[in-house]
Amino acid sequence: MVAQEDVIELAKRRGFFFGANGAYGGVAGFYTYGPNGAAVKDNLESAWRDRFTVRQGNMEIEAPTIMPEAVFEASGHLDGFDDMLVECPECGESHRADHLTEDNTDIEEAESLPVPEVEELIREHDLRCPSCDAALSGEPVEEFNLMFETSIGPGTGQPGYLRPETAQGIFVEFPRLKEYARNRLPFGVTQIGPAYRNEISPRKGIIRVREFTQAELETFIDPEEDEPPLHEVEDVEVTLYPATEQEDEEGEAYTTTVGEAIEKGVIGSDWVGYYLGVAQGWYERVGVDMDRFRFRQHLPGELAHYAADCWDAESEVGAAGIAAGSSGDGEEPRDGGDWIEITGFAYRSDYDLSKHAEHSGESFTVFKQYDEPKTVERAAVDPDMATLGPEFGGDAGAVADALQTLAERDPDAFDANEVEVEVDGDEMTVDSDVANFSVETVTENGEHITPHVVEPSFGIDRIVYTVIEHAYRTDEVDDEERTYLALDPEMAATDAAVFPLVSNDDRLLDLADEVTGDLRAAGLSVEYDDSGSIGRRYRRQDEVGTPFCVTVDRDGVEGDDPDTVTVRERDSARQVRVPVREVADELDALLDPEDDRAFDALTAAYDEIETGVETA
Ligand code: GLY
Repeated sequence: MVAQEDVIELAKRRGFFFGANGAYGGVAGFYTYGPNGAAVKDNLESAWRDRFTVRQGNMEIEAPTIMPEAVFEASGHLDGFDDMLVECPECGESHRADHLTEDNTDIEEAESLPVPEVEELIREHDLRCPSCDAALSGEPVEEFNLMFETSIGPGTGQPGYLRPETAQGIFVEFPRLKEYARNRLPFGVTQIGPAYRNEISPRKGIIRVREFTQAELETFIDPEEDEPPLHEVEDVEVTLYPATEQEDEEGEAYTTTVGEAIEKGVIGSDWVGYYLGVAQGWYERVGVDMDRFRFRQHLPGELAHYAADCWDAESEVGAAGIAAGSSGDGEEPRDGGDWIEITGFAYRSDYDLSKHAEHSGESFTVFKQYDEPKTVERAAVDPDMATLGPEFGGDAGAVADALQTLAERDPDAFDANEVEVEVDGDEMTVDSDVANFSVETVTENGEHITPHVVEPSFGIDRIVYTVIEHAYRTDEVDDEERTYLALDPEMAATDAAVFPLVSNDDRLLDLADEVTGDLRAAGLSVEYDDSGSIGRRYRRQDEVGTPFCVTVDRDGVEGDDPDTVTVRERDSARQVRVPVREVADELDALLDPEDDRAFDALTAAYDEIETGVETA
């Protein structure tokens, strides 16, 4: 394991990511991806799109990142999207009260505790300000809304918010999206893009930031009929850390299969289980170390306001004791790294679509056609408005609506001489005869249902971080210590680097240009580097995870092996001499994720060069 500070240092030095706006002192929680980081992030997003949009047959959209206040009134984010804030009375620094509690007590998920309990824990453990060591005991813990507010248009404008999740951009467009899906469930809509949260205390590089990238899939299902293709994933092995194990002092994560976990009710939703299985394969593909990975169920008090059940994919990052001490948060060194959420798999039920229907007045339902028409009895009223009008004045229409609602809910109420309905909090009494209650027999071909939503929501930045940290290796090559990133080639920023061994020989430079051109024409991303010693050039590429380096040397333009170059594999540092005309095809095949050819195929076909590197 590696310390997070080493990864962050390498990330900055080698152009993966660094704090943004440095020229102006920087603002915590905002990061710029440099050329290598932007490329890795782009590769990760492409792999996500391939697996969760293309291969799943879903549609992808791109919605605005600023949305009007009404959206977040409906979604519940205005009221319920808060973190616990405690301010230091001495230095004024703001801290996440739940994180301080977790870092200084045995409690793992303080977010799920009520505010008074966290205040009490701060008192009981005499928690202190990580910045200036002042006592926080007795300071109020407040709910702090995480949304960034803005004003749309000139003047006072219309209040708007930067979206705290991409999901809302999908939900609000449901009335149109369902048309594109030809009104048939289930269907899925994906979106990759930025989301914003005004974090109280952003920290740990790109792990907790204020602007981040989400890749979200919203699957709309009929909860009574639609089943996921579980057979595709039932044998997939997963490490689970259910709520029951977290609540048990002796409890721990364990390995099982998706099928078994569903059968035993550990995973309550087939759809959530299905996506855990699909995602497991995807994490393996992009290079998450599966020995430092688990699915953890949310504790009941931890669930987001919209979620009926939720499992997080978590990766372990940071070395024992080192990461904890380096965050600046006053955490005590402890065993193991930190477990961070990299994806949430939430069963959101019909919460979002129902709320948007209620607040917008639009239809967020799908018409579900029955296999056979059904004959049903339907209670109805036909109120005598000539009587209701004079009696209830402007409320007459609302009384008529309330009578219809009552008829559907409690038809027996109309057996009495009078019925009572409530309009705007006032009880109104109506003569039953005026309501003209009847029960009709009707034939129905279907019904309008509000779909339920199953949502895998991936935090791309945290996965980028995980993939880089889990690939971080050190070893010795040619008696020199080196650091390299054993990135999966699909994730690496650059496919290959081309080096002319010396920069004062035109024959080498011409051949290096030719090889670079061939590789780029084959679709490979290529870095050309002719500066510094060859050893330093290899180290630079090793540190950014370039899988292959191609060196043009004198033997390749004269001597026994003309028109050849050396190809060096990053992880083993072994080298082979390959004919120039073959090199593009060979590397293209080695880099193809569908082709499981290994470097051994090259060492078998061509002459391996003696480098002093141990071969297996
Ligand atoms: N859409 C889930 C989340 O943003 O956490």
